[in-house]
Amino acid sequence: MIPVVDLRAQYQNLKSEMDAAIEEVLREGSFIRGQACQRFETEFAAFCGVSSACGVANGSDALFLALKALGIGPGDEVITTPFSFIATAEAISRNGARPVFADIDEKTMNLDPRAVASRLTEKTKAIIPVHLYGHPAPMEDLARISRDRKIEIVEDAAQAHGAEYQGKRAGALGDVGCFSFYPTKNLSAAGDAGIVISNDSTLVERVRLLANHGERSRYEHLLEGVSSRLDSLQAAILRVKLRHLNAWNERRRQLATIYLQELEDVSELRLPRETPGCRSVYHQFTIRTKRREALRRHLETNGIASAIHYPLPLHLQPAYASLALEKGSFPVAERTAEEVLSLPIYPELSEHDVRQVAKKVRDFFST
Ligand SMILES: Cc1ncc(COP(=O)(O)O)c(C=O)c1O
Repeated sequence: MIPVVDLRAQYQNLKSEMDAAIEEVLREGSFIRGQACQRFETEFAAFCGVSSACGVANGSDALFLALKALGIGPGDEVITTPFSFIATAEAISRNGARPVFADIDEKTMNLDPRAVASRLTEKTKAIIPVHLYGHPAPMEDLARISRDRKIEIVEDAAQAHGAEYQGKRAGALGDVGCFSFYPTKNLSAAGDAGIVISNDSTLVERVRLLANHGERSRYEHLLEGVSSRLDSLQAAILRVKLRHLNAWNERRRQLATIYLQELEDVSELRLPRETPGCRSVYHQFTIRTKRREALRRHLETNGIASAIHYPLPLHLQPAYASLALEKGSFPVAERTAEEVLSLPIYPELSEHDVRQVAKKVRDFFST
């Protein structure tokens, strides 16, 4: 079976480096916010081109804490895409604010700036663009909307470590950037981990406080917070992997190019296209077809796994029934959710396997 992602491959290739890093943490015995955490924060901030970073327990908390640090709460509205993982919207509702969805752009599957503009109210405090599948959202247009209105841009960069927009890296494009290091991500931990980054060091220090019970010094709590710290073992593993991230992203791009070449003339398919000025890191290689279910079955019969990101837009999830948004509210997101299919892509995947997947996709549409 060709899997969608192989979570054992990185350890097989980096075993000695990773074992040494883990052993160092175990010997040191500082397991939460230890030296490895501080080093990783510095290195990841530099990688993204910002001044500050605070490691947290996961990407969901990164978003939740970024909004909390910005003072967003009950009575506030935050605009985001309905075509994302639920954590994006949960970060808003967990703070007591209201998620306001805006439809996506047909071509990029990211937020449509015109739809965002139409959803603005006096209560809008932030916009959360998601760089879906590793492709940057239209940040310039969103900046134009938020400028002069005191609306913060909180990037959900959980799928976009190293992606670039006009030469700047994802996470460094808005007011604050949030990342997940969930095991399937382009940069991944051996468990849960996340980070908040910004050029606003005061904001990042507020996240640091909130992520550790509002504690300034031992048992002195300036405010009520949560327990959401990065642990040293994850940070040590992330430090090793960060050194390989550029090469891994480059490899993903090479594999994506092969898919694009091999599938170019399949007229029934819509392929992911880079917007000018954007550099995708192909967290997913997601195609669109009206015959998705049949294609998925055909691939499975031929030993090829695929995945659907995401089958149901957020506004139609039972969890958001209270928003009373019916089918038809966001037609582009709804149509896209019915058509998307993610093909295998990860740095260790061989070119031979990519060509094999592409061939089976082509065979399906030629019969
Ligand atoms: C777009 C997006 N946002 C947020 C998250 C949440 O990250 P985590 O699973 O680390 O909490 C994820 C990944 O799982 C994601 O893909």
